[in-house]
Amino acid sequence: GSIRQNNVTNGNSPLKLFTHAKMTITDIFKNIASFVNDSSIYLADVMKSDKELLAIDKYKDSQQLKERVNRILSIISRDHMKVVFFGRTSNGKSTVMNAMLRERILPVGMGHTTNCFLQIEGTDKMEAVVLIPGSEELKSVHNLSSISNALSSEKLDSDSLVKILWPKEKCRLIRDDVVLVDSPGIDVSTNLDEWIEKYCLDADVFILVISAESTITVSEKKFLHNVAQRLSNPNIFILMNRWDATANEPEMVESVRQQHLDRGLEFLCDELNLCDRKEASENRMFFISAREALLNRNTDPSTSPRSGYNEGEVDFSEINRHNDDFPGYRERLHEFNKFEHEFEKCISKTAVQTKFQQHTNRGKEIITFLCETIANIINRSQTNKEEYLTKLKETEDKNVFLEHELRSMTDSAKERIRHVSEDVYKRVAQTLNDE
Ligand code: GTP
Ligand code: MG
Repeated sequence: GSIRQNNVTNGNSPLKLFTHAKMTITDIFKNIASFVNDSSIYLADVMKSDKELLAIDKYKDSQQLKERVNRILSIISRDHMKVVFFGRTSNGKSTVMNAMLRERILPVGMGHTTNCFLQIEGTDKMEAVVLIPGSEELKSVHNLSSISNALSSEKLDSDSLVKILWPKEKCRLIRDDVVLVDSPGIDVSTNLDEWIEKYCLDADVFILVISAESTITVSEKKFLHNVAQRLSNPNIFILMNRWDATANEPEMVESVRQQHLDRGLEFLCDELNLCDRKEASENRMFFISAREALLNRNTDPSTSPRSGYNEGEVDFSEINRHNDDFPGYRERLHEFNKFEHEFEKCISKTAVQTKFQQHTNRGKEIITFLCETIANIINRSQTNKEEYLTKLKETEDKNVFLEHELRSMTDSAKERIRHVSEDVYKRVAQTLNDE
């Protein structure tokens, strides 16, 4: 009933935080792109009409913004949330992933199964494709068993990464931009540092899958110590898998759980110093059965061992009736759901912070640069206008002065003429009198 509801629909998943943020930031950058476009046209005009107004290097910078914004937009479109699964061989990593994907996508089995890194990411195409490193060829995967065939027919290095492009259509987790990385058993590879360098530095969440029948091993701890050295405050979940094994020993459940909890918390909180004990015990360690969760969820008739289910109308009652006889079955399913919910909250929050914070800063830089450049032009043209006006005023003043000068000059000339003429008149009169 309620578990099925949760599994199949789940419209308000915490992953939406990331998908909404991605949509919002895409819109913002589209706006920035059109602002950049308008501005670069304006700046080109300014450059043509008056070179004094805009420094050439600023102009050149501004003309590169368009490409920069487009680059950021394409990075945003590829931004995703990444989770890496690791742990000892056969602990159930691939089974956990399949349960989360709600389908048997990854090959699982006894012994050493996953022999290289497998990255599952979304594609808009309808058909799944496998990308093998070193070959350009895309291998279509018509059904799930051909994934393991495609993988086993290749000779692959344990450090190589095979990509499985899985139709977004088929899986909510992948549709919401989660990329999942499966790893070969941590005890099989010796190159832990190289792993981290190659595949883990951009991971938002690490999930350590432990077999509850054993305990956390030295190599698993070493791996996480190295991760914590490279990344500040990594998000780590510990899954105590195969918890269904306790169904056979119900009297032991509580003491075994306590033992695992004590060791896990000591590691996460005291050794790695990642969070406090309350947080870790409530939200970072889970006691699950990936196998049961997968059986409960796997709704595809072609991949389910029990056939005859129609998608959307899955009748789990048979499976559940069968499994309900197992002590703790419902609790383990519930615990798996709880883990997924915490995981989704954690990965979307981290991815939004680490990925979109950078873009937001870049966006602000671009806008500030353009605003300053344009304000500068306006300012400069303002000062130029003022200088011009002052000059104009000065010349006007000069004109007035000249006019005045001219007038006074003529006045004195007239005066002098008057003087001269008076003088001449006097002298003439004198001469007449004398005669
Ligand atoms: P490698 O790929 O070899 O590193 O192993 P893995 O960690 O991916 O383990 P895988 O998922 O292949 O599981 C190994 C075996 O354990 C398979 O046969 C699974 O069916 C089984 N298994 C996985 N999870 C559980 C569980 O919760 N309970 C039980 N009983 N069996 C499980
Ligand atoms: Mg595996």
